[in-house]
Amino acid sequence: MSKILIVDDEPSILESLEMFFSEKGHLVSLAGDGRTALGQLDSGGQDIVVLDVRLPDINGLDILARIQNRTAPPKVIMITAYQDMHTTIEAMKRGAFDYIHKPLDAEELEQSVDKALQVLAVDSQTPFTGEPAGDGLHPGVIVGQSRPMLEIFKIIGLLCQNQASVLIQGETGTGKELIARSIHRNSLFADEPFVTLDCSAVVENLMESELFGHEKGAFTGAVQAKPGRIELAGRGTLFLDEIGELPLALQGKLLGFLERREYYRVGGRVPLASHCRIIAATNRDLTAMAKDGRFKEDLYYRLKVVTINAPPLRERRSDIHLLADHFLGKINRELGTAVTKVQEGVIQRLAVHPWTGNVRELANVLVEAVVRARGRVILLDDVEDILALNHAAPEGLNGFSLPNVEREHIRFTLERLGWNRTRASRALGISMPTLRSKIRKYQLAPAE
Ligand SMILES: Nc1ncnc2c1ncn2[C@@H]1O[C@H](COP(=O)(O)OP(=O)(O)OP(=O)(O)O)[C@@H](O)[C@H]1O
Ligand SMILES: [Mg+2]
Repeated sequence: MSKILIVDDEPSILESLEMFFSEKGHLVSLAGDGRTALGQLDSGGQDIVVLDVRLPDINGLDILARIQNRTAPPKVIMITAYQDMHTTIEAMKRGAFDYIHKPLDAEELEQSVDKALQVLAVDSQTPFTGEPAGDGLHPGVIVGQSRPMLEIFKIIGLLCQNQASVLIQGETGTGKELIARSIHRNSLFADEPFVTLDCSAVVENLMESELFGHEKGAFTGAVQAKPGRIELAGRGTLFLDEIGELPLALQGKLLGFLERREYYRVGGRVPLASHCRIIAATNRDLTAMAKDGRFKEDLYYRLKVVTINAPPLRERRSDIHLLADHFLGKINRELGTAVTKVQEGVIQRLAVHPWTGNVRELANVLVEAVVRARGRVILLDDVEDILALNHAAPEGLNGFSLPNVEREHIRFTLERLGWNRTRASRALGISMPTLRSKIRKYQLAPAE
């Protein structure tokens, strides 16, 4: 049972909220003005304060500030009839847990109270960590203890002794670039440059010059000679990202370079030598591309002497806990937050998500969760909301007519959120009345 103090100068509100929360099994006390409220607070023990902004004697925002100065303050939910931006922002800045506009929706207030109680409960637990520490000292650390990751660490270690070319394959967001940088950092030539060329980001007719450089007057606009990325890499690493997008003609030239370690600038007649290591990365299926003639087979074989397969996150779910800890620490450092606790069930929930965007998606979800967190705590409900939003595709649709898609999407969202209408309406970006009318229209009901 929790203790709730309700502060409002409207007797009808006090009365109805007292009835509502007593029925839910809470211990309710009431105050009709600020002085009474502060007196009640002095006798202590409240978990939650529902606080009106406009009171006859003291401004609610001032009461809020005084509450925040106490040790172990209760969670304060502000309520007001005024839709004013300034007060809302100010209240949240001063540490209000939530801000709810009148006319009061009892369900919305109850949601907020429930959430506040959950936060209070998790707040008293020991931290999950996510402490600002660790990786600050080791930028570029690759987190993971799963078998495929240990295998990758082994290969990175082996590669430190030579300058062999490497092909890194893996879905988007699996850490290909991170691995490439780690290979470089652990190599004999770590002090030499790490240079990137994203083959999908350069227009085709500039690609050769970007890669190999050009001589003065080689083409219109080549007013000066310019070194290519290969040259800029020195004895270090040239990272060819999205190698699958490299035009066929250049694939041939790159192959020539890999075979002879010599190349020509565009418009150049003197062969230049380079001893940089080539690391290529792709999320495409190069074997299939080679079969269709879209990727030069010889180049593929030349590159794949050492192949690293960055596994999708769903194939190494045991790493999710570590990754979450790592990212929370990193996010806290970057955003200046101190979100170090997660409610029970959060990690388990993250561990079953499909993660089509892999580690990057996980990191993004956590950033959103930190931004939404009240105080130091990430709640399961919030994580559910974020995952539901990111996961918009309804399954098992027969017809893709708009009403069909709408119906299935609403059903899907409600189901995911356990038929919690307040959260569903938020997740769907529609008002409660609209959601209610759509539930009626489509005759949606919880599955038995
Ligand atoms: N094992 C890991 N430990 C810590 N951070 C990771 C890990 N894997 C990926 N990341 C982080 O996730 C993000 C995406 O990683 P990265 O850019 O290396 O992926 P990628 O495979 O190159 O993706 P894309 O194919 O979309 O280019 C980066 O911020 C990276 O630091
Ligand atoms: Mg990348």
